Amino acid sequence: AASLPPTYILRPLRKSDYAIGFLDVLRVLTTVGDITEEEWNERYDWMNSQGKGGYYIMVIEDQGKIVGTGALLVERKFIHHLGLVGHIEDIAVAKDQQGKKLGLKLIQALDFVAEKVGCYKCILDCSEANEGFYVKCGYKRAGLEMAHYY
Ligand code: ACO
Repeated sequence: AASLPPTYILRPLRKSDYAIGFLDVLRVLTTVGDITEEEWNERYDWMNSQGKGGYYIMVIEDQGKIVGTGALLVERKFIHHLGLVGHIEDIAVAKDQQGKKLGLKLIQALDFVAEKVGCYKCILDCSEANEGFYVKCGYKRAGLEMAHYY
């Protein structure tokens, strides 16, 4: 696979990413709301207190600014002999950075982690408009999403 452009770094999320635009990148995806640093710290610590229990959030940083992110959640099952399933969530690339293969790199990194930790598959939900992107990442249509909002 081709590498990232020279000044770009792909790495796990850090607590300090609050200050360098992580939440702004997520705003290309959906509403985020006003999250205080205290709230951020609490959620970050919770995710990281789960031990091997499963949050892997990757970011792409360019010159001190977050420009892309994606998450992998590893679900532990009883079926398939205690199988592990990866869930790809919240993939977002800053508007002015789209089309540089950053999204592809994020998915490749999350797939690599999922396979390495022993997931037998990775699944995700997306809109019809994003199907082509995930097909280019090696995913294929499977099943149907349903939701019950509260
Ligand atoms: N439809 C079809 N093909 C696409 C699309 C699309 N919507 N988006 C990208 N591609 C293609 C590219 O042309 C490229 O193809 P190529 O290899 O032939 O040149 C390939 O997919 C890889 O594209 P990237 O450059 O890696 O895409 P980008 O970095 O722009 O990231 C993303 C794609 C994440 C969808 C970005 O546009 C984005 O952040 N959009 C807004 C937020 C969003 O919709 N996120 C996904 C939600 S679903 C989820 O999170 C599970």
